Amino acid sequence: MPDMADAIVIKKLTKQYPIPRKTEFVNAVDNLDLTVGRGEIFGFLGANGAGKTTTIKILLGLIYPTQGDADVLGQPAGDLEIKRRIAYLPESPYFYEHMTAIEVVTFYAQLFGMKTEDAKKKAEELIDFVGLGGKGDRGKRIQDFSKGMRQRVGIAQTLINDPDLLFYDEPTSGLDAIARRDIRDLMLELKRQGKSMFLSSHQLEDVEAVCHRVSIIHKGKLQVLGTVEELLAGELVEVTLSGVTPGLGESIQQVAGDAQIEVNGTRTSVLMKNTPEAIGRLIDVARKAEANIVSIEPKRRTLEDLFVRVVGGKIDETGAVTAPVATNGTNGTGAASFDTPVPVAPLTTATPKASANKYKDLARK
Ligand SMILES: Nc1ncnc2c1ncn2[C@@H]1O[C@H](COP(=O)(O)OP(=O)(O)OP(=O)(O)O)[C@@H](O)[C@H]1O
Ligand SMILES: [Mg+2]
Repeated sequence: MPDMADAIVIKKLTKQYPIPRKTEFVNAVDNLDLTVGRGEIFGFLGANGAGKTTTIKILLGLIYPTQGDADVLGQPAGDLEIKRRIAYLPESPYFYEHMTAIEVVTFYAQLFGMKTEDAKKKAEELIDFVGLGGKGDRGKRIQDFSKGMRQRVGIAQTLINDPDLLFYDEPTSGLDAIARRDIRDLMLELKRQGKSMFLSSHQLEDVEAVCHRVSIIHKGKLQVLGTVEELLAGELVEVTLSGVTPGLGESIQQVAGDAQIEVNGTRTSVLMKNTPEAIGRLIDVARKAEANIVSIEPKRRTLEDLFVRVVGGKIDETGAVTAPVATNGTNGTGAASFDTPVPVAPLTTATPKASANKYKDLARK
């Protein structure tokens, strides 16, 4: 029996593409293991060329993997029955430009085999849902739509078959702040409805706001996996000092352990764990060395910091994270984290059923 508890199960998935004029291959996806639970909104992040679209195309059955398995809703990717229960929003959806939003969605609904009347009714309902039902928008042709409006049509189109699982590729790219917030709210509503979503995005604040769990891939390999809370756990504080001598710099390193120290002209800022003890120790050594304390500012961790650390220059040729690596004792395959070690969810090859299932309950709350 296929496991109906999970929306997506990816096991040791690899996709190789030949490099032109060479006998070598590039691993667009490299031995990837992932499980997405039912009702889970799963963030799939990575720099340009990391392998996100390749993974999505394999899951949709549009291309075949070189090695490994990908199951979607309990069946191998590409299964025809399952295709009726999933939907895909490509990065730049294409529509017939001369049609209105309602006509486009009616047209797609008919492609799903709906009768004209039912298709029209469904289109009206979905166009209202995505906020294009207003008088001014109804008569407009797609060619006169803004990017945000097009994206809404795209979302309406993904909901025709009332799918269980949605694949959204960059739903908020190129949108202004208001349009982005609206699309984000739509995704939150879908989350509330209990849909599962595989969401690829470069808009890290959106990912932070809607996703249950987030992954970061780099050169086709999984580098980070955890809930947003786990990945951003631990308060930080930035203490800025002036008059820091080289000797004091060394003492700071000793008392603040894994702090990140940055020198900016006459000012030195120390980013470290926000605990009264750590701050107290730092102030003690600073006072002894007659340095001035300019400011003490709590800092929130963001996905952007984590992303930049994982993707930006801290990873060697083979794709292995050279630093920072969380010390979670998983034999070198630990999830990457901030330089300041924080508790990070271990990089598991498969989410235990129980924890995948909890998203279903979560979504329905
Ligand atoms: N059809 C193809 N033929 C050869 N190489 C390809 C093909 N499609 C993708 N690649 C390569 O595979 C790697 C991953 O590409 P992919 O499009 O999956 O990245 P991505 O994470 O979606 O990037 P982006 O954020 O830019 O959309 C890249 O090195 C890319 O050049
Ligand atoms: Mg892509």
